[in-house]
Amino acid sequence: MQGTELRSAYLEFFRSKGHQVVSSSPLVPQNDPTLLFSNAGMNQFKDLFLGAEKRSYSRATTCQKCLRISGKHNDLENVGVTARHHTFFEMLGNFSFGDYFKADAITFAWELVTTVFKLPEDRLWVTVYEKDDEAEELWVKLAGVKRERIIRLGEADNFWAMGDTGPCGPCSEIHYYIGNEPHTQSKEGFLRDDGSYLEFWNLVFMQYDRSPDGTLTPLPKPSVDTGMGLERMASILQGKKANYDSDLLRPVISLCEELSGFRYDGGSYVPRDLRADPAYARDVAMRVAADHSRATAFLVADGVRPGSDGRGYVLRRLIRRAARHGRVLGFTEPFLYEACDTVIREMGGHYGELTAARETIEKVVLAEERKFQETLDSGLALLSREVEKLAPSAPLPGAVAFLLHDTYGFPLDLTEDALKGYGRAVDHEGFR
Ligand code: SER
Repeated sequence: MQGTELRSAYLEFFRSKGHQVVSSSPLVPQNDPTLLFSNAGMNQFKDLFLGAEKRSYSRATTCQKCLRISGKHNDLENVGVTARHHTFFEMLGNFSFGDYFKADAITFAWELVTTVFKLPEDRLWVTVYEKDDEAEELWVKLAGVKRERIIRLGEADNFWAMGDTGPCGPCSEIHYYIGNEPHTQSKEGFLRDDGSYLEFWNLVFMQYDRSPDGTLTPLPKPSVDTGMGLERMASILQGKKANYDSDLLRPVISLCEELSGFRYDGGSYVPRDLRADPAYARDVAMRVAADHSRATAFLVADGVRPGSDGRGYVLRRLIRRAARHGRVLGFTEPFLYEACDTVIREMGGHYGELTAARETIEKVVLAEERKFQETLDSGLALLSREVEKLAPSAPLPGAVAFLLHDTYGFPLDLTEDALKGYGRAVDHEGFR
């Protein structure tokens, strides 16, 4: 099943269960000062969960554009390194606003996964919040999940909150064993977290509103908020080990191969030494390009422009970070605008805003890339000279990181990212 079919299959399934299909909200939240970017499908429904707003429907389903690059949910540092983290991703979700609760959420999820997606039950695992006896019973009774495949975890894993405040509640996640030796599956193996068990769907049983002082107030009516990573499910259904090998992300990697003449190997997601292993560094760079081009194209389409603070600075950081990785692939000229064009071609069918903004995206991204070209090379040369002067394993002095920031336009996270190649960190205190 290709990404596009998967997106439709999910929405259709929930439409057939009485859910209203609602469009994704923009990446820039419209009415929520607590959020820089949309980071989950439930964001646009926050007031419905809180009981502060009513609509004509009490069940909805969406495919939501998400960006996890700031605040409570930030995956930037994992991008390129792991097989499955992104800044930009699409979250498929179904929601109940005081309508159904745990039982139906579990029944729907199991039906979709086992009968529409046809995932073999003997590769599925479920986690529940450690105090949620009811959820465990429902998984056994309604879905027929074997008790030994249900794992209880604490708050860090199985209690979901949108941010420091707002709707939250215990959750239950479905995982898929993607390893090559199904007979070795075990609870211990699951808990070892070695990448063989992939979490792909989070069912949140929304029950509370968290206030700034941490108090949990019960919501007017218990509700449901689920989120499935589209890229993760695509990789499972396409028999791939990594999201980057699915049809949703692969096209930009292929473009990078074409432009650079290097082959993408992709093989390992165990972090390796970037300096000792240039082929690995190039794989990371191609994955960063695939990720950041999506985030960039969608941000520009939703009205964000590179700038020196707030959302604009996030966009600038993404473009500059991608440009730095481009150097690893030997790109001395702008390339990200072309990668964005590939994204528009691949995703513009579902997201009309991308197609509508095609020219603006190209213009804005190319201009930002050009602006950074000159100082990028001199900054990288300076960085390398400064690193040579340092004692073994000493961090880069804050003053140098600041000079790079102030004079060469290197956002701090770009300097830190570049320093990974030298196995060094930045003296943060000094920088501040
Ligand atoms: N809000 C939950 C999450 O982001 C489920 O959609 O994981």
